[in-house]
Amino acid sequence: NSTSALLNVEDYHQQAKEKLDKMIYDFYSTGSDDQLTLIDNQESFQRIKLRPKVLIDVSSHQRENSLNCQTQLLQSTATISFPCIIAPTALHRLAHREYGELATVRAAVACSTIMCVSTAASTCMELIAEEYQQQIKTNYPQSTSQLWFQLYVLKSRPCTKKLIQRAEKSGYKALVLTVDLCVVGNRECDVRNQFSLPNGIQAENMIDDETNDFAKDYNVPSEDEALSWKDLDWIQSITSLPLILKGIIHPDDVRKALKYSVQGIIVSNHGGRQLDTCLSTIDALPYIIDTIRTENQQIDVYVDGGIRRGTDILKALALGAKAVLIGRPILWGLAVDGEQGVKKVLDLLKKEFRLAMMLCGCQTIDDIRKNNLLIMNYTSK
Ligand code: FNR
Repeated sequence: NSTSALLNVEDYHQQAKEKLDKMIYDFYSTGSDDQLTLIDNQESFQRIKLRPKVLIDVSSHQRENSLNCQTQLLQSTATISFPCIIAPTALHRLAHREYGELATVRAAVACSTIMCVSTAASTCMELIAEEYQQQIKTNYPQSTSQLWFQLYVLKSRPCTKKLIQRAEKSGYKALVLTVDLCVVGNRECDVRNQFSLPNGIQAENMIDDETNDFAKDYNVPSEDEALSWKDLDWIQSITSLPLILKGIIHPDDVRKALKYSVQGIIVSNHGGRQLDTCLSTIDALPYIIDTIRTENQQIDVYVDGGIRRGTDILKALALGAKAVLIGRPILWGLAVDGEQGVKKVLDLLKKEFRLAMMLCGCQTIDDIRKNNLLIMNYTSK
């Protein structure tokens, strides 16, 4: 089996690059403008150095497969097998024509993690929810997997309301509101490639039932339609699902988010696809954590962008994140080997994360924060 030679996320990336059409590979892999933020997301992790603690007995850790990596989220209403969640990414059927998001959700259930389904999924959200239920029932009754729904506020508020209600009705457990896409970033590769959707693939959730048209206008700012803070009240009046804001970088925005009693924040710059030269996410994280501590509050903080190794996950947790989200690595797994590929990518990251914990002398997830393991922005003189 050729995939047994794929040992890490980068191996999956290279294999996916060979397999995918250039137009699709570029759509998945690239960022905006000069792609400085895209690159910096990964490089910032590499600039943070670990100083491990030694002579701590981690042997029990090795025996109790996965037990110590379990992570509770959203005030213990969710438990995942290790602190890594599938980020919302558009159009999985570009990576895997036949099953797309259905393959991804099977892997999420098998690995007991959360799949955050995108508004721009190429499979209708109800079908993904059905597949999720089916998998739990027939193959993985012990799975603690959950579905979250990522919301883009559409230009039409009635359409947006319908999306929220559909998500709640079909069993999604949290609403992840993406706030860093008031307009779409300048993705020059897509312009050069004249990116267009292949026949038969579209953003299935964004079709307006009444007109049967694509509600594909994102929230293009216009006077009364642009998404703003006051809309959080509106969203919270429609749904009782926990609300998580995705795309926060500035500490002032965290203070505002706390006023609106959101349940979580995802420190994200959309994988370097929106504002180029935006601060990398792992460099933004400490300021966010600090702000929440100063305000004497406790909410879940997650981070995404550039996470490719178990040590990256460990660093994010050491800085105060509850969990990380991964975007592109999932798409690489999906492109290479469908459900099995996604499962393998998650398993590889979990294995690497456990190894990093042990090598740092961490017996529990809490130890990662307590052990004072990081030196930031280290430069050798
Ligand atoms: C995204 N991302 C994204 N985010 C979101 O809220 N809704 C979406 O539909 C999408 N779609 C999407 C498509 C593709 C191809 C990519 C690469 C990314 C952003 C995503 O959730 C996440 O923030 C980043 O992907 C994280 O960075 P890494 O892990 O890809 O480096």
